[in-house]
Amino acid sequence: MSVTAHRSTSFTPLLVPLLIGGLVAIALGVFGRIHAPTGFAVGPAGFSAALPMKAWLTTGALVLAAVQVVSALSMWGKLGVSIPPTVHRWSGRLAFLLTIPVAFHCLYALGLQYDVPRVLAHSLLGCFFYGLFTAKMLALPKRGTPGWTLPVVGGLAFTALVGLWLTSSFWFFTTIGFKI
Ligand code: HEM
Repeated sequence: MSVTAHRSTSFTPLLVPLLIGGLVAIALGVFGRIHAPTGFAVGPAGFSAALPMKAWLTTGALVLAAVQVVSALSMWGKLGVSIPPTVHRWSGRLAFLLTIPVAFHCLYALGLQYDVPRVLAHSLLGCFFYGLFTAKMLALPKRGTPGWTLPVVGGLAFTALVGLWLTSSFWFFTTIGFKI
């Protein structure tokens, strides 16, 4: 059965996934504000410190997410080449997994900061990213959601990850350098 077989125009089936996604984003933001930052969360796992570890893991997540977008275009017949859906699924899963130790460090060790516009944008994008990811995963198995649901929610999640990368890894690589 093709990707679009059980889609419709009704917005109602999307309400719960979007609501829960919104609650996840808000909960992360509130935690990021009320939790006392510890300055430490995860070991650098072979990198020289947490910052380069986070910058490189985020870059890995972005590359995998780009593979996921390209494979999605192929699944929707927009590319003219056929990429197996498993590539889409696994690149998405691995991209998400790579963000977890990074975001855990951000939220637990640093918290939601808004003294610098770059860091404020970054912190909000971080919360938004997980809210969108949650909404996408909850909408995926649902029947009767509008045909634009996955491209739009998936596209927004990818855009949030690009914004996260620009406000962190790109800043790190252009300010501190390609340190490991
Ligand atoms: C969930 C909410 C998030 C919050 C509140 C948050 C907050 C922060 C803060 C306050 C910093 C320090 C910024 C600085 O002083 O330079 C930071 C750094 C960083 N964050 Fe996040 N972050 C979040 C999610 C994420 C996610 C999802 C990623 C990657 C997928 C990420 C990647 C990074 C990286 C690579 C750095 C180090 C570079 C830097 O210092 O800017 N963050 N984060």
